[in-house]
Amino acid sequence: MPALTQMELLHELEPVVATELDRHLSVTRGWMPHEYVPWSQGRDFDGLMEGEAWAPEQSRIDTVGQTALVVNLLTEDNLPSYHREIHSALGSDGAWGQWIGQWTAEEARHSIAIRDYLVVTRAVDPEALERERMVHMTAGFNSAYELDVFHSVAYVSFQELATRISHRNTGKHTADPVCEQLLARVALDENLHMIFYRNLLIATLNRCPDQTMSAITDVVRSFEMPGAGIEGFGRRALSIAMAGIYDLRIHHDEILVPVLRACDIWNFEGLGPEGEKAREELAELMADIDKRATIFDEKRAAINARRAARAE
Ligand SMILES: [Fe+2]
Ligand SMILES: [Fe+2]
Repeated sequence: MPALTQMELLHELEPVVATELDRHLSVTRGWMPHEYVPWSQGRDFDGLMEGEAWAPEQSRIDTVGQTALVVNLLTEDNLPSYHREIHSALGSDGAWGQWIGQWTAEEARHSIAIRDYLVVTRAVDPEALERERMVHMTAGFNSAYELDVFHSVAYVSFQELATRISHRNTGKHTADPVCEQLLARVALDENLHMIFYRNLLIATLNRCPDQTMSAITDVVRSFEMPGAGIEGFGRRALSIAMAGIYDLRIHHDEILVPVLRACDIWNFEGLGPEGEKAREELAELMADIDKRATIFDEKRAAINARRAARAE
């Protein structure tokens, strides 16, 4: 099969997008962000309202939980940049445009609800949050894949699942039932987004096996969360990993493996030499990530054991 151009592929995928959009709309349930926020806990802040300024002891969430919440929210905040990237990479003809509109509106609900929760419950410093939002959104987000359709579809398939897991585990970590309920609701949306893009990835793989296989391998090799540009991301990601909210083991077992399995990547037939080469490299990458995940798990266990011994 001759390689398709980006435009040809987008045109070919349009009916798939239409079908997936219908499926998405039939299973998604709209929800009201305001219902997930405990407004009765709110009170005025300093400044115009002359209320009480935020202070660290007001937060009921531990430091790691706060870090994860802020990283998750800043990531959601950068939606205008993602919208621009996806719109530029995938276009807006017919069902594509409808999907992108629907997806954007759903994503915006996430940042609205999470910010309302954080500010009302005084879970994090609202001034620091606002300053960070300005910096992060001003920097924006540029996909590493130069608007290539194959890479973009592969990236969002993994990324939506990664946000699902990261919201879900952040909610559990906070041990605040209200926060957990909200983030579980957000995670449900992320799961549906993942299914949409993953099904599109499968369709892409069936139409253009070699190009899609190479793109999947590239994305697994260089995967970075969209929030990687947040200041101090390395340090924050490490504390999130140390708390088991999102670490390499989770990344391997709960994000990469399920998406690859759904694509039936290891049994997929119809690859040419280029695709076969990419699949072999993917197998090596996966083995390497698995190995590094085990090393991290062991290091973390040793550090935690030392900390526990010191605490006694
Ligand atoms: Fe989201
Ligand atoms: Fe999403």
